[in-house]
This record gives sequence, C-alpha cells and structure tokens, in this order.
Amino acid sequence: MSNPSLLILPGDGIGQEVMAEVRRVIDWFGAKRDLQFDVSEDLVGGAAYDAHGVPLHDDTMVKAQEVDAVLLGAVGGPAYDDLDFSLKPERGLLRLRKEMDLFANLRPAQCFDALADFSSLKKELVAGLDIMIVRELTSGVYFGEPRGIHMEDNMRVGVNTQRYTEAEIERGARAAFEMAMKRDKKLCSMEKANVMESGILWRDVVTEVHADYPEVELSHMYADNGAMQLVRAPKQFDVIYTDNLFGDILSDCAAMLTGSLGMLPSASLGAPMENGRPKAMYEPVHGSAPDITGQGKANPIACILSFAMALRYSFDEGAEAARLEAAIEKVLADGVRTGDLLSDANSTAVSTSGMTDAILAALDESL
Ligand code: IPM
Ligand code: MG
Repeated sequence: MSNPSLLILPGDGIGQEVMAEVRRVIDWFGAKRDLQFDVSEDLVGGAAYDAHGVPLHDDTMVKAQEVDAVLLGAVGGPAYDDLDFSLKPERGLLRLRKEMDLFANLRPAQCFDALADFSSLKKELVAGLDIMIVRELTSGVYFGEPRGIHMEDNMRVGVNTQRYTEAEIERGARAAFEMAMKRDKKLCSMEKANVMESGILWRDVVTEVHADYPEVELSHMYADNGAMQLVRAPKQFDVIYTDNLFGDILSDCAAMLTGSLGMLPSASLGAPMENGRPKAMYEPVHGSAPDITGQGKANPIACILSFAMALRYSFDEGAEAARLEAAIEKVLADGVRTGDLLSDANSTAVSTSGMTDAILAALDESL
C-alpha cells in the first residue's frame, strides 16, 4: 500500500517558517515511528499570486482534492492589501475550504499549565481550560448570495447575506454532537435567534439533531452572551457549535484566553473520501504575522499541533498525536519559550527552530 499523502501549503509570512519546522517533525515520525508520508508542497495566498497571478492555482486545487490531508501555514501580508478583492490571499484559503467542502472546523482552546499566567484573564479562570469550538466553515455570511458593493440612489451599498440551509446546519451539528460524545458530553450552540431568522432555524435544527444524542447535555446561547460568558467563566464550556462568522470571532476570543494565538491548531473536516478518511485541511489559528516574518521569532507550536490533529483525525494515529502533544507540553513545562510567550528567570528563550529542536529532543526521550 502506498503511503498516505500530505500536501503542504506554507503560504505567506511566518507560514513558510513554521511549516519548515513541521517538516522536521514529519521527518521524525518517518524515521523514528515508521510513519511515512508522501509529502508534496505548493503555493497558496500571496505566494501563489506572485507566481501565478491568482491566490490559488487550479492545479493546486486539484492536488488538494486528491491528497489525504492538506497542511496550510498562513496567508496574507501588507504587499497584497491593495489587490482586487478576488485576488486577495484570503480568497485562496476560502476557495480551499469551500471546494473541499470542509464544513466542520475544529478549534480547540486549551490552556497549557505552563502558560496560564500569560492569559489575559486571571489564572484561576483559565488553568485547565479545554474547550472545543466547532465552527461551520463553508456557508453563512462568508459565502451567501447576494453579495457585493453596488450603487443605490447615488450611494454605495455593501451587501452580504447570512444564509443557512437546514442540511448545512445539521451536518455541522452532527460533527459537534459526535465531538461532545468523545469529551464531556456538553454542547452549547450559539446564534442570534433573537435577531436573525437563520438563528431561529439554527436553534431548531440543533434541537432536532439532539434527539439522536440524548446523552449530550445541550444548551443554547445568544452569541453575544456567549462572548461575554467566554471571558467571564470559560470553564463552563466543553464543546461550542456556532456559525461561520460567530465562530471566527468567538474562536479568536477563546484562543486569547489560553495565553497565545501562537499555540492553537485547527482542523477543517469534510465528508469521508473513498478511503474512509475525511477530506481535511489542518492549519494554525494564527495569521501570517508580517511584523515578525523572517526573524526566526515565530512560534511553530500551533502549526506542529495542527500536524498532531492530522495524525489523530486523518490517520487514526491518536497515540502518536498524544506523544507529540505531550512532548510539546514537556518543552513548555521546561520553560522553553519563543518570544510570544511569557518568560521569567527560569525560562530559556529560543528561536523558531530552537523550539523544534527542543520538541524533537522531547520526542526522542519519549521512545
Ligand atoms: C480564520 C481567519 C480567516 C477567516 C480569514 C483569514 C479569511 O480569520 O481562519 O479564522 O475569517 O475565516
Ligand atoms: Mg479568524
């Protein structure tokens, strides 16, 4: 049987630096755990625009559809700010999500003990925090029609449409309930049913799906209250299910609670392929960070943890994923820190590759 295939799309800015570190981790699993992958690499975002004049080449899209999993770094940068909307780096990412139909975006917000002091909240509110946000990723206001900027009465009008079918809400809800079943069996669904019809439908459909998961304790919350509760008492949540735009905002908020955006991975999953694996793309939650690009300052952990999610969700290697996560936890407990993380007299400042050196050493120790 051939090796599972990975398509690596480093993208822009620190995406390229952190992905180079992920490749070292992938090589470690090949050499030491006999987990071989066929790795290919291609362009996305500004890098693709520079080479091809589009943020995602059609050939890259075809490759992404064929591989077992895509690993993406980050897209965007100031050089591309003035491009036409359809050519912006983000359009490459959104095209991948849409055409691969990656409807379930899993965004864990987990607070590492060693970093609890770095949260913007008091330590006792976040120590041990472990939330999973399931964000619907292929619909809603990100993709709804009509959209655009047009003229009305000599005035420009900007239009976007929040649109959800019940099938879209349902398949995401099933992913969220399945996730809750594997965790603490608690799901909170967030929308604005007090203001939006799409929110009313959301609440109805999630309630209907609940009938198939009676063991899960389901609650509903308006998304604004959800944001407030996330910063008031985040540990009340286990799994949160919400739409594309609310999920974008709430996941950034939840991420900050854990101490650093530089730490958080994500998985975007679609329907099963012929080989039984879900269509999948893994990416760090952080962006391309142009301000620190090329300086060896970026924290590679979010991207490395994204590979851990790939091991777990695409390749059924949960034990190896846990090995990698434990190695990262150990390195943090030992005080190894990139510049984005809180340091003190006992910690050791490292560069991007220095962090990977430490993680690989901890992986060696785990054998
Ligand atoms: C995210 C990002 C993207 C989004 C951008 C880069 C298009 O903020 O993945 O959260 O809005 O979904
Ligand atoms: Mg975002």
